[in-house]
Amino acid sequence: MKKKISNPFLLRGYISPDYFCDREDETTKLIELLRAGNNITLISTRRMGKTGLITHCFNNTAIQQEYYTFFVDIYATKTLRDFVFLLSKEILEKLKPFGKKAMDIFVQAMKSLQTGVSFDMAGTPSFNINVSDIQSSEKTLDEIFKYLKKADKPCIIAIDEFQQIDKYREDNVEALLRTHIQHCNNAQFIFAGSQHHTMGNMFLSAARPFYMSSDIMYLSSIPLDKYTKFAVQHFKRGGKKLLPEVMSAVYEQFEGITWYVQKVLNVLYGSTPQGSECNLDMLPWAYKNILNSNDYTYQEIIFRLPEKQQELLVAMAKEKTVRNPTSGEFVKKYKLQSASSVQSALRVLSEKDYITQEMGCHKIYDRFFALWLRENY
Ligand SMILES: Nc1ncnc2c1ncn2[C@@H]1O[C@H](COP(=O)(O)OP(=O)(O)OP(=O)(O)O)[C@@H](O)[C@H]1O
Ligand SMILES: [Mg+2]
Repeated sequence: MKKKISNPFLLRGYISPDYFCDREDETTKLIELLRAGNNITLISTRRMGKTGLITHCFNNTAIQQEYYTFFVDIYATKTLRDFVFLLSKEILEKLKPFGKKAMDIFVQAMKSLQTGVSFDMAGTPSFNINVSDIQSSEKTLDEIFKYLKKADKPCIIAIDEFQQIDKYREDNVEALLRTHIQHCNNAQFIFAGSQHHTMGNMFLSAARPFYMSSDIMYLSSIPLDKYTKFAVQHFKRGGKKLLPEVMSAVYEQFEGITWYVQKVLNVLYGSTPQGSECNLDMLPWAYKNILNSNDYTYQEIIFRLPEKQQELLVAMAKEKTVRNPTSGEFVKKYKLQSASSVQSALRVLSEKDYITQEMGCHKIYDRFFALWLRENY
């Protein structure tokens, strides 16, 4: 039976193509590239829909039939050991529906983890391991790649938040992974990450191991006409009406970035009674509602920041997009102390992910926070 959901504008996860808007060209392209044997780097502004697109492709029937698909989000990993642990678990978990034979090939390859393998009555293996059971990450990684080479189906491994490996404690992870990946012809990789400087540096700098190792796909916004059609249709299905101009306004406000658009649509849908129309008059209320629910968090963030960082953040919120925050013009316009103090505040705010740099421009990462700052300062 189909799961009944109360709001069709999902804010996390993936249910089915019904709740997934467009991305038809991107899906076709991604699948074609994979079929042609490429590795792919998927880059976008944050929250644009990279993870969603990967899940959508993995949900494709042909892909499911042809490949084993593995997905690891390595955002929370800090070491190669964490990475190896996560990937081993994911592989075993995903092989489960394919039965004992498929799992056995993997378990037998993972010689260094044998002590943590247990079998149920039917002889189906499972891992009972902790990160600390991994004695040598490099050895275990080696075993994973040995498995990938001899798996009984070709494999696709998506590594989400790939830029994280740049922060691993061990030094040579990038080169090590690159070597393994280069020699593995039964598996293809999708590296996904935000346009954050690290991801760009890893793949676009000639000095780095992953340079020229994959096809790079930039994910941009879902086109407004397609998004409007999707939104209007879902309102209609719920017995409500969405005026297209509302969609245009939301799209423009948040530069078409999927998560923000979804969030506003979700609130609008929830507050439009059945049989009623959602018009432009509802928008200010919807924004207020979202900002209010984040009010405490935003106040805390601001409260904890040193004054120079606060001032820079407010200035950037007001300016929206800043090409050169250390320019005399910007410093003067917002009465900031000096170019050098802006420089150091900018570095810290970027490290803390409050600010992102995209296409040479600086912006506040959380667009709702930017809106809140504009309204409150
Ligand atoms: N095509 C789509 N149709 C409808 N909703 C979508 C679509 N793509 C993504 N979303 C929704 O938008 C939000 C952000 O998507 P997702 O998490 O895939 O972005 P991301 O680029 O991986 O973000 P991050 O940079 O934070 O990892 C999620 O709530 C997801 O459910
Ligand atoms: Mg993601």
